[in-house]
This record gives sequence, structure tokens and C-alpha cells, in this order.
Amino acid sequence: MNKVTELIDKLALEHSLTVDEYKTLIELRTPETSEYLKQKAVEARQNVYGNKVFIRGLIEISNICKNDCFYCGIRKSNGLCDRYRISANEIVECCKEGYDLGFRTFVLQGGEDAHFSDDILCGIIRKIKTECSGCAVTLSLGERSKESYQRLFDAGADRYLLRHETATESHYQKLHPDNLSFANRMECLQNLKEIGYQVGCGFMVGSPFQTVDDLARDLKFIEDFSPDMCGIGPFIPHKDTPFADYPAGSAELTCFLLSVIRLIKPNILLPATTALGSINADGRENGIKSGANVIMPNLSPNTVRKKYMLYNNKLSDGDESAQNLINLKQKMLNIGYEIVTDRGDIIK
Ligand code: 5AD
Repeated sequence: MNKVTELIDKLALEHSLTVDEYKTLIELRTPETSEYLKQKAVEARQNVYGNKVFIRGLIEISNICKNDCFYCGIRKSNGLCDRYRISANEIVECCKEGYDLGFRTFVLQGGEDAHFSDDILCGIIRKIKTECSGCAVTLSLGERSKESYQRLFDAGADRYLLRHETATESHYQKLHPDNLSFANRMECLQNLKEIGYQVGCGFMVGSPFQTVDDLARDLKFIEDFSPDMCGIGPFIPHKDTPFADYPAGSAELTCFLLSVIRLIKPNILLPATTALGSINADGRENGIKSGANVIMPNLSPNTVRKKYMLYNNKLSDGDESAQNLINLKQKMLNIGYEIVTDRGDIIK
């Protein structure tokens, strides 16, 4: 047996490798070992979730952001970004429409927009919870104080997505301006966990300056932090950002890492992300076939979808659209998976 298959077997059994072993796994991968890894990942997911795929209705509530992350198309300094914010009523209406389509989880994602105070958000969360009975609310609104996270949780929010972006502090600094710190990001993630949220972290694959060591540390971080969810997708340049001329990350490596993460934590909720679907026509299906079990179709009002441009050519129509769920269901059936109407909580 070669070194890589040995490591894959070890990971499948023990759900843990050293940072050096993760590095070896990535560096020495071949199409054959990737195929083996994928089989193991699919088996692990099958044992916990069967062939079910969970869906989340994604509502992009605002592209106004006080931050200036170098990779992101809605960064504050991008004067070419056409800014918008949707109203509380519109957000609730989107959820109701999604509920009728079969969604039982709504993800409110947005830039760090000061308009969305705790009071405003708590009102929105309560309204969604009463209007859409039995649904889960996920927030993805960046860094906030522990008190704020607590208030939103008390209002009924169930889950929070906050990508760690990279588990290497020096790399974090290369992706963000000085006022954003790795320490604060880590503290936010810790706070969310302590409060009792189901927490998601995640990172971009192939972000500028990323090394294999960085990726190995991302995997170790996931092992140690043990998130309920993990969003990973390829970095894709946005033309009006400082990283406009950096190459995109690869779909192949993203899928490989999805399989590794599945083996690190067999019950993790792992989305085949929009970024993965955006760089490759069959990206989403390949993500699911590699061990992902969540898809997040876009449920934002049609008028704003093109404005939430985190990177060039971000998908928001076709199969990405919540309204085309029927097509997505068929595509999943074609590869042996079933999209279900379910909150899709983590099975512990
Ligand atoms: N390419 C890929 N992903 C991106 N994100 C932001 N900008 C880009 C980009 N250019 C991801 C970040 C962020 C999430 C909302 O979107 O990881 O956390």
C-alpha cells in the first residue's frame, strides 16, 4: 500500500492526522488516491446521513460592509459595487416563499452593515420563527460582540456561519487589512460555540499566498475546533479588488479537501458551495460526490442577486436559484441523492 492510501485509512479510522500527515496527503495525492479517498468519504457520509442532501435558502440581506477584505467584491473600498440592503419585510417574505418551496432553513448572510442592529435582527428572527414554523435560522453576518451573538441566539437564531478564512495568523494578515485580526476571528468562533449555536467555519481554497502548510493547518483546526458546519470553496478573483490578478483556486483540490473534512468529522454538515458551482459547470454535483451533503440555493429577491458579487461570475440563477429547486432535485436524483424538506440539523 502506498503512503497516501495508508494515511486515508488512518484518517477514516481515527479521524485525525498530524499537520505533517495532512501535508503529505495533499502533496502526494494522485487521481487514484483521490478516488479512493472519495469512496471512503461517501461511505462515511452514507453511514450518518444516507443519501440525503439538505438545502438552505440563502438570503443576501445587504452588500454594505464596513470591512475591506482584500479578496472580497463587496469590500468597503470597492466604489463600483452597487450597494443595497433589503428590508425586514422583504427578508420575511423571502423566507415565506422559501418555506412554500420546501426550505426549512434560512441563511441570512450579509456584509457587516451597521443598519442591522441587534434590535432589528432580533425582530426579523422572531418574525421568521413565527411565520415559518419548525424552521431553523442561520446567520452569517460577520464579527459581532458576544453580547450581540447572545441576543440573536436568545431571539431564536440556531446557527452561525463565520469562516475562519485561514488558520495561519500570518496568512490571515495577508488577506485582511490591519484592523481585522485573527485573534478576534478566533474569539468570535469560540463565543458562538459557548453560546450554543451550531457553528460553521471555513476557508477559501487557493487564496493568494496560501501554502500547503496553511491548508494542513486549516484541516487541523477543523479537527480541533470540531465545527458543526464547514464552508469551503475555491478563491475566485473579483476584478475590482486588490486580488484581481491572482489565479482562482482549483475545483479538484476543493473536492479533495471536502472528502478529507468528511473523514475528519463524518457527521459534519458540508456544503457544495456556490463558488465551487461557479468555477465548474458540474462543481456542485462533484462536491456532493466528494462527501458534501448541503446545497444553499439563492433565495434573495431577484432585483439584488447580481449585486451580491463576492467574486467574478458568481452564480445566482439556473440551478443556483431557489425557484429552480425542481431542476436541482432532478440533478441530485440523477447522481443518486435525495433533496429533503428538513431543518437538516447535525446528527450527533
Ligand atoms: N472568492 C471566493 N470566496 C470568497 N469569499 C469572499 N470573497 C471571495 C472570493 N473572491 C468568501 C469568504 C467569505 C464568504 C462569505 O465568501 O470566505 O467568508
